[in-house]
Amino acid sequence: MCGIIGYTGEENVKDVLLDSLDLLEYRGYDSAGIAVEGHEGPHVIKCAGRVSDLRVICESEKFFTEQAEGCGIGHTRWATHGGVSDANAHPHCVGEVTLVHNGIIENFRELAAHYDLGEQLKSETDSEVVAALLNHYYDGNPHDAIKKTVSKLKGTFALVVLFADRPGVIYSTRNVSPVVATVCEEGAMLASDLTALCRFTNRYFVVPEYHILELHRDRVMLFDLEGNEKKPEFLSADWELNSAGKNGYPFYMEKEIMEQPKAIERTIECRVAGGMPDFTREGVPDSLFTDCERVTIVACGTAMHSGLVAQALVKSILHMHIDVEMASEFMYSDPVLDEKTLVIAISQSGETIDTLEAVKYARLRGAKCLSILNVKGSSIARESDYVLFTNAGPEIAVASTKAYTTQLAVLYLIVAKMAHCRDVFTTEETQSFIRELQRTPEAVEKVLAERRDIHLLANNVLDAKDLFMIGRGLDYSILQEGSLKLKEVSYIHSEAYASGELKHGPIALITQNTPVIASVTQEKLMSKEMSNIREVRARGADIVLFIKKSLAGSVNEDYRTFLLPDMQDAFMVMPASAALQLLAYYVSSDKGFDVDKPRNLAKVVTVE
Ligand code: M6R
Repeated sequence: MCGIIGYTGEENVKDVLLDSLDLLEYRGYDSAGIAVEGHEGPHVIKCAGRVSDLRVICESEKFFTEQAEGCGIGHTRWATHGGVSDANAHPHCVGEVTLVHNGIIENFRELAAHYDLGEQLKSETDSEVVAALLNHYYDGNPHDAIKKTVSKLKGTFALVVLFADRPGVIYSTRNVSPVVATVCEEGAMLASDLTALCRFTNRYFVVPEYHILELHRDRVMLFDLEGNEKKPEFLSADWELNSAGKNGYPFYMEKEIMEQPKAIERTIECRVAGGMPDFTREGVPDSLFTDCERVTIVACGTAMHSGLVAQALVKSILHMHIDVEMASEFMYSDPVLDEKTLVIAISQSGETIDTLEAVKYARLRGAKCLSILNVKGSSIARESDYVLFTNAGPEIAVASTKAYTTQLAVLYLIVAKMAHCRDVFTTEETQSFIRELQRTPEAVEKVLAERRDIHLLANNVLDAKDLFMIGRGLDYSILQEGSLKLKEVSYIHSEAYASGELKHGPIALITQNTPVIASVTQEKLMSKEMSNIREVRARGADIVLFIKKSLAGSVNEDYRTFLLPDMQDAFMVMPASAALQLLAYYVSSDKGFDVDKPRNLAKVVTVE
């Protein structure tokens, strides 16, 4: 859950490192540091705080006025072992070794004791123990020291290392935690994800696990642990070179919300042929959907919420057995898994460790795994039988928005495909379903165009301490995501309830002026839902209503209301979700929070 970067080349090394850390900061933001090679060895600057704090310190460092081009490494941290302090920030230097690390070394205490490293350690981190162990084994041969060190490590790691007597060269190795690398006109570079590289190039390769990467300013070299040189397998990202910037928006979250119509369209249109869902380009066979007897979706957070929408659709359209499991609970719940189970893993990053482990576990038990991911070359992509990528482009804000709606787009395509393959939908019914799906970008666009009204509604909940979201059926699924969005960026305690459940307990929490957000988009559930809304209003709740336009006419009472553009009920998820994302965004930005980097969170969760 940290961002790592290495660069060797002719550009200003400090600037490349700091600019890259800015782009990687969403992976962790409690401390940051860089090490740049100088005549007397690596010069290390690190501090608790943000990359912007580090930048201020670097700007006043004489070293950097004398040292421009060259070689350096950097890190932005999400604390696991050891609190947030200058000493625990990376890089760590021990003897000849300067290192940054992403991951968790489970046996660091045992290693420190066994190799008697304690005296050399200045921090409380597991990472510094790795630096000390590398230094212990280092006798002038980097590969040998790396090989011996990794053989002793238990846990996950992406290590990036400078050896004092190897100027201009950066070494890296990894297990589970990702490293991508490239070489281009500006030099050679590695990072924990593509966002830092795509400023320079969209050609990159994923460093294989338990290999050693050498970055030289004009080339990259890859070796297995036996010393055999390997050819890197370059991939091409379809992200635009400037797609990781804010494009004039104050926050990535707003930019990414606004990008949704195009992102959804990109995700759908490349998979529609003759009006039908088509996965042939991705090599996903129809038999995957006809041969399974049950479907299990595994995912975390927002990605899991997109799975809940799919669950509702699969149940109502296909009448099939479908479970949605929190990936973190999956393996410990004795799930029913066999070769007749289709596991669908959903993840923006493709790196979430719980989802990754769930995929490995399911495949070992014979299930076939289809993943819906945003990041190509990610760990889950490599572990899956089939992958359908969302074409959302880089998502930088910690709060997931365009990843969610593009995941939904893929899930709707899967539902259509399954319904057709399993003879639930005729060809005409499938085409009609797809036509409605193709209208979703336009519906989301309409919501975005009315965002000022949502901003006004947001003012009503700014001071709330607790807030409830209520709805039935698909509305409940939408609100589970809406509630997560609001709580993570605004720090307002928010809970989503199925309206019918209120009377079984939660209604006790409703008092005078308790804010309640209600979503009403499902015609067949409307009359019951409106009764539930009246029940909470009668107990003092302050209601904000998000309602499908064509249903609003039959509401007799006066509520603060946002009208959602009309779509068929099954597709109302898209416009309603965009509206709730905007609500969360405005509450957070109006409260003056750092919307993109909510406290305690990180974008990519690689620890269990
Ligand atoms: O990268 P993933 O989609 O696997 O991430 C899963 C969750 O960590 C993620 O959706 C998280 O809940 C977001 N912060 C929600 O906005």
